[in-house]
Amino acid sequence: MKKSTNPIWGGRFKNSNSELLKKINNSISFDYELAFQDVKLNKVYSEALFRAKVITKNQKDKIIKALNEINQELKNEKFKFSDSYEDIHMNIEMALKSKVGEIAGKIHTGKSRNDQVATDLKMWIREKLDEIIKRIKQIQKTIIRKSEENMNVIMPGFTHLQNAQPILFSHYLMSFFEMINRDKIRSLQLIESLNECPLGSGALAGTNFFEIDRFYIAKQLGFKKPTENSIDSVSDRDYVVEFLTILSLISMHFSKLSEDFIIWASRAFEFIKFPDSLCTGSSIMPQKKNPDAAELIRSKTGRVFSSLSNLLIIQKGLPSGYSKDLQEDKEPTFDAYYSIEIILNVANEMIKSIKINKERMYLEANKGFTTATDLADWMVRKIGLSFRDAHYKTGKIVLLAEKEKKMLHQLTLDSLKKIEPKINKDVYDIILPEKSIFHKKSYGGTSLKTVVEAIKRAKKRI
Ligand code: ARG
Repeated sequence: MKKSTNPIWGGRFKNSNSELLKKINNSISFDYELAFQDVKLNKVYSEALFRAKVITKNQKDKIIKALNEINQELKNEKFKFSDSYEDIHMNIEMALKSKVGEIAGKIHTGKSRNDQVATDLKMWIREKLDEIIKRIKQIQKTIIRKSEENMNVIMPGFTHLQNAQPILFSHYLMSFFEMINRDKIRSLQLIESLNECPLGSGALAGTNFFEIDRFYIAKQLGFKKPTENSIDSVSDRDYVVEFLTILSLISMHFSKLSEDFIIWASRAFEFIKFPDSLCTGSSIMPQKKNPDAAELIRSKTGRVFSSLSNLLIIQKGLPSGYSKDLQEDKEPTFDAYYSIEIILNVANEMIKSIKINKERMYLEANKGFTTATDLADWMVRKIGLSFRDAHYKTGKIVLLAEKEKKMLHQLTLDSLKKIEPKINKDVYDIILPEKSIFHKKSYGGTSLKTVVEAIKRAKKRI
């Protein structure tokens, strides 16, 4: 083989690659991320080659021993990744060659980097999904603890960011338990559906006469079975899109939480306080304490979304089979995952450490006529009005209260009677925020009783 051409595929080349080609083609700067998966894959594949009588037991043992050494070097961060070998697969093969000599050249028998990279990435995604599930469970526990610590705190619930109806803060926080529980279930479902192993599909057509046992390989690598169609196997990145969809939803949920907290920490709201440990100051305004951690969760979400659209766009124009475009699937995928990892860690810390200002929350729950719906419902139940009629009359009461600059419970019975003569003093019993909350006993509602029950169920669902 000529020295100047590529050591792996240089045979048919007369001349070496340009520096520019090397620059655009190299992926080792990012796909080193798949090193452990690639070593594991090569170990299993060597076993399969031995079972297929392509290599002897002695050769297999040497190869496995060397791969174990490589694994250790990777663990100890002693492994030297080299730019001269364009990707992780070549780096591992060349490292193997440096240890066992020419027999390293046998491990690529019947396999292609096309099925290899698809398998590595699938394995990587499965491992990362496990990590995500672990972290989500941790946050769910934090949410429950914080909710229990603030069980009775009353706040205004918002729609259109306008005070809508009184709710319990614990009920609010538990809404995020549900959002991320769906993310957890999605992750578990994706792990379940990532059960087919692409390895053994070759470049696209399957493997030749070497009797590689794809079922054995699949099982050893933790999959249930081999993929069904070799062409599909080398080009399928649906699982990456699904992974990034889940990551997008996770980040979307924490962006929402962050946005709530950022608003609530503002001087205008003063519902919560961030600890110093999660804020930064201003280089010019000495008084500032800014909620940067929450803001960065919010903006990293954009980054995660862009990875998802990136993957969709890369694949949109591709013909069947493998194309090198697919090499570009990795950077956005890795970036999205590491963004999610930090989002989850910071969000957990943020929920744990915010201080709740229950006085401010309660005061605000009284403002904005948040119990008007309770008043209308009362007129339906006690006076027998239709809901539309009761809605209209309550609207008039709100107008009156606005004019008199009063809260609903501060209006006199006489003035209420002018709008609906059948109203009596019992009405005052339902137009306080705590009363409104008390009556929201429907399954999943905000009454203390239902929230306590929901938390009890949630503990079993982690
Ligand atoms: N590094 C490549 C990737 O990440 C795999 C190489 C496939 N190369 C090829 N010429 N078919 O997709």
